[in-house]
Amino acid sequence: MAEDFAGLDEIGDWSVDKLRILRDYSERYSLILQNQRNQRGAKQFFTGYIDAFAGAGEHVHKTSGAIVKGSPLIALELPHRFDHYEFIDLNPERVGRLIRLAQRWSNVSVHQGDCNDVLLKAVLPKYRYDDYRRALCFLDPYCLQLDWKVMETAGRMRSIEIFLNFPIHDMNRNAKRKSIEDVDPKSWTNMTKFWGDESWHPAMFAPSRQADFFAALGGGEGPELEKVGNDSFAGAFQKRLKDVAGFKYVPDPVPMKNSIGAVVYYLFFASNNDTGARIANAIMKGYR
Ligand SMILES: C[S@@+](CC[C@H](N)C(=O)[O-])C[C@H]1O[C@@H](n2cnc3c(N)ncnc32)[C@H](O)[C@@H]1O
Repeated sequence: MAEDFAGLDEIGDWSVDKLRILRDYSERYSLILQNQRNQRGAKQFFTGYIDAFAGAGEHVHKTSGAIVKGSPLIALELPHRFDHYEFIDLNPERVGRLIRLAQRWSNVSVHQGDCNDVLLKAVLPKYRYDDYRRALCFLDPYCLQLDWKVMETAGRMRSIEIFLNFPIHDMNRNAKRKSIEDVDPKSWTNMTKFWGDESWHPAMFAPSRQADFFAALGGGEGPELEKVGNDSFAGAFQKRLKDVAGFKYVPDPVPMKNSIGAVVYYLFFASNNDTGARIANAIMKGYR
């Protein structure tokens, strides 16, 4: 019987790396948390795996044409299972496919809808720090589809760790204009929603060093702006995850490059747990 690939995404090697990092970390996370005991010897934490941009559960590899397991299947097949799985996707076809794939596991909820609403209203509130509930949340949008409120809420809750795919290519293409007035209104709205305020624009540009030099010699009309590099811009977001969202640990992200070496995403990890941060950093180091 012919395999049904309809509705599946094609993915490249960098996505495979992203999924490996996620699997390696999830495996350690669930092993450590599931084994922690309180003073009475009972299991200490209820653990959740949250996949906000879950997809169909499987992909097709661009070059080999092989089926590659997606993030939800990887999490479901871990040797030490999470206590509950929450999958969210906007696309009804992908959700249908994922429901079929996930039906042989228990403790799985699949939501169809905008993950920003579903996370803030229905999922994140289930993982209160004081209730000894902890969750690993994977935020894997294609482009500017995420709301800063999600990241800020996760940071403030202290019980949620995140992996975030930061869509630098989409940001550069749609929002990197010297004057903020030149950014089209839809891209401005999406960028401001993702970043949380308009400070993304000054973070994208710095006074030109050349113009500075001429101004210092008494010429010119003050510093011109020039585009900052991708690493600096990602660095500004890293600082924001710490200073504004309140994550204590945000290791340097992994730049994810396409087949011609251009950075398309940065994979971020953010947590309030030092052990988690140490493990994630050690895994990510091998890919930086
Ligand atoms: C990059 S794919 C996810 C891949 C998946 N995490 C994996 O690694 O197997 C992004 C997914 O996000 C979904 N999506 C886009 N906007 C969304 C939104 N606002 N809420 C939930 N899902 C969304 C798309 O339908 C798509 O399936």
